[in-house]
Amino acid sequence: MPNPGQNETQDSASRICAADADAIAEAGRLLAGGALVAFPTETVYGLGADATNGQAVARIFAAKGRPSFNPLIVHVANLQAAEEFGDFSPRAEALARAFWPGALTIVVARREGSQISHLATCGLNTIALRAPDHQIAQEVLRAANRPLAAPSANRSGHVSATRAEHVAADLGDAVAMVLDGGATRIGLESTVVAATGDDISLLRPGAITEEEIEDAISARLLSAPRDAARPASPGQLASHYAPRARVRLNAVDVRPGETLLAFGPGGAGSTYNLSVAGDLTEAAANLFSALRMLDQSGADVIAVAPIPDAGLGVAINDRLRRAAAPRR
Ligand code: TXA
Ligand code: MG
Repeated sequence: MPNPGQNETQDSASRICAADADAIAEAGRLLAGGALVAFPTETVYGLGADATNGQAVARIFAAKGRPSFNPLIVHVANLQAAEEFGDFSPRAEALARAFWPGALTIVVARREGSQISHLATCGLNTIALRAPDHQIAQEVLRAANRPLAAPSANRSGHVSATRAEHVAADLGDAVAMVLDGGATRIGLESTVVAATGDDISLLRPGAITEEEIEDAISARLLSAPRDAARPASPGQLASHYAPRARVRLNAVDVRPGETLLAFGPGGAGSTYNLSVAGDLTEAAANLFSALRMLDQSGADVIAVAPIPDAGLGVAINDRLRRAAAPRR
């Protein structure tokens, strides 16, 4: 933890720690316990959470004040660790060998049976993986001994944080610890490519140029499909994150043939409750797995109880609206 009077100044800056061995060990313990720890990478500071813990991942969305869920990059030490969570085609593997550790995020198919939280991947069958090229980030991964979901450590809408002080100013108490590694080397997010099929396509321009990638794979990089039916980044389609079952929102009653997805104490005893306590962070962590679970149970129509449209509820309702939108 922060060493009083030594590495801290005041208030929101009090969580900033010099990244010595004690602080790294503490960061590992905090992450394993579900807390958020910000750490430097070569690109920008990341707001890290245990990627296998849905509640920890939900805290990322709450801390950033993200208006909608966007799948997160899962950080790992190297390709061997990445292959536990994603299926790498020969092309994807070649990219990882060429650029990792480094500022290239590779989107591949999610590995069957993977322990990664479905909230981190926003219910998609793909996963974005990256091995950061930064000593502190690598030490944190080793200390935590688990994959870390980490978006840029800034409030949604702000510029990315490239210094520990930016993180503390933006996120304050939401982050348990900010490891100080000085200004980040790259200061711009990683390049994101999709390598789920034979081709490689660019999803987000970033720290590594298109030319560098094309040289590495000896092939052209396709640009992200702009086609609305095949969105490059999730969240562009009205109907998305949709379960097989139909979804009815703001249900204050349960009609014949419907299965209730409850929220709050009033729904105790129903098949599935996003959060009996009415806690939005818990509900966010449960959302995607609940929809999958109800699909597996054979529900035809999922009646979703009203979710307060504030805080993380805005993002939950955004995803639920997409789940309920007319299908193509
Ligand atoms: O440099 C970086 O990439 C920083 C540092 C901390 O590593 N991280 C970062 O994460 O920028 P974030 O969460 O802000 O950006 C993730 C990007 C988003 O554009 C998101 O849409 C995309 O990756 N992404 C994540 N998973 C995806 C997936 N399964 N399919 C397509 N795009 C995905
Ligand atoms: Mg960002």
